[in-house]
Amino acid sequence: WSQTAHKVDGELHVGGLAVPDLVANVNTPAYVLDEADFRARARAFRDAFAAYDVFYAGKAFLCTAVARWIQEEGLCLDVCSAGELTVALRAGVDPARIGYHGNNKTLSELRRAVAAGIGRIVVDSFDEIERLESITGDGATARVMIRVTAGVEAHTHEYIATAHEDQKFGLSITNGQAFEAVRRVLAAPGIELLGLHSHIGSQIFDSAGFEVAARRVLALQARVSDELGVTLPEMDLGGGFGIAYTTQDDPADPAQLATEMSKIVEHECRALGIPEPRLSIEPGRAIVGPAMCTVYTVGTVKPVQLDGGAVRTYVSVDGGMSDNIRTALYDADYSCTLASRASDAPPVLARVVGKHCEAGDIVVKDEFLPGDVRPGDLLAVPGTGAYCRSMASNYNHALRPPVVAVRDGVARVVVRRETEDDLLATDMGDL
Ligand code: LLP
Repeated sequence: WSQTAHKVDGELHVGGLAVPDLVANVNTPAYVLDEADFRARARAFRDAFAAYDVFYAGKAFLCTAVARWIQEEGLCLDVCSAGELTVALRAGVDPARIGYHGNNKTLSELRRAVAAGIGRIVVDSFDEIERLESITGDGATARVMIRVTAGVEAHTHEYIATAHEDQKFGLSITNGQAFEAVRRVLAAPGIELLGLHSHIGSQIFDSAGFEVAARRVLALQARVSDELGVTLPEMDLGGGFGIAYTTQDDPADPAQLATEMSKIVEHECRALGIPEPRLSIEPGRAIVGPAMCTVYTVGTVKPVQLDGGAVRTYVSVDGGMSDNIRTALYDADYSCTLASRASDAPPVLARVVGKHCEAGDIVVKDEFLPGDVRPGDLLAVPGTGAYCRSMASNYNHALRPPVVAVRDGVARVVVRRETEDDLLATDMGDL
């Protein structure tokens, strides 16, 4: 839950507003974004990593308002597509404070990034280096980092682990591609190499993976300095800091992370006899994840008999996998609470499901809800700030929900609900 969330007589309050009052205006489903909480988490990273640059990873959730808050709080912004870059630039983010990721940036995307004066482009392939060579020189320069694969098995879901060898991101340190890419970029007149970049995966709790990655990247850095005589001034250790989705998760706080990471880098650099590079990190989930919750209205309640005689109550809400794909895609765990009233009814084992046409459309796999949960009740699911609205879809022609920012008792729609006209706008009719 975000820091201002609490209950008053069973009613959930966020940002100084009663959620039932809030959704009476915007309807459900809706994402409620606690602005003070978001800013506080951004500041906590900025302060803990004061000697670093902190890039907020916009893929977790980005809109114009959030891009502005990031800039106001003194963070930089990581974008990974032309669309995210457009939002960042429209929000007025200083291009020099933007990092641009992606394993398949097109020539026109790269041209745009170079023309805009993006602070750093994180290159991910030799094809991309070639494209950059073709558009730089003659006064146009690109500042780049090279994304390397550190060969780490991050302990997270397979789809969101990104530093083992057999996946699409980065250039391998092990097979020499990373070193070769460094050599190639250093030889390109219009490209300035800032340093190496490693991102090991997402929703990670164990700092061991970062430690191994930092060691391997710094070893490469030392080789570059030995063999090519070049000191790379910067290094990025990526994002991936885990958050609590249920009470069983125990995330590290930014200050602790900062201490651990700095210690490793300091120690390794001393051992390798190289100067410490300026570090940067790219947290997304850890800043926006806890700052949002999703509010749904219950539509139907259906007890189902399980093998062995137990009963599971299926509670269908007015959204589902179109606004939160994470349960279906990663088997993610969420929790939820009755947000509109108090209840003394004995709890029942419930599963919160959406309204889409498939059985895997589950929002919360298991939760104990009051036994009198009924149509019209509001349910709130915490921790939906990261990768829920940003991965939302129009499956079954669902209208993607709004994001309502709340702060000090004031609500502001920062992303409006889609309308059927939005859906029809791309449908060319019967030609
Ligand atoms: N930097 C890079 C290069 C990344 O690829 C990512 C995430 C981040 C930073 C931010 O990671 P974070 O701090 O948010 O964990 N859709 C998945 C997560 C995919 C993460 C992709 N890259 C999910 O819902 O769990």
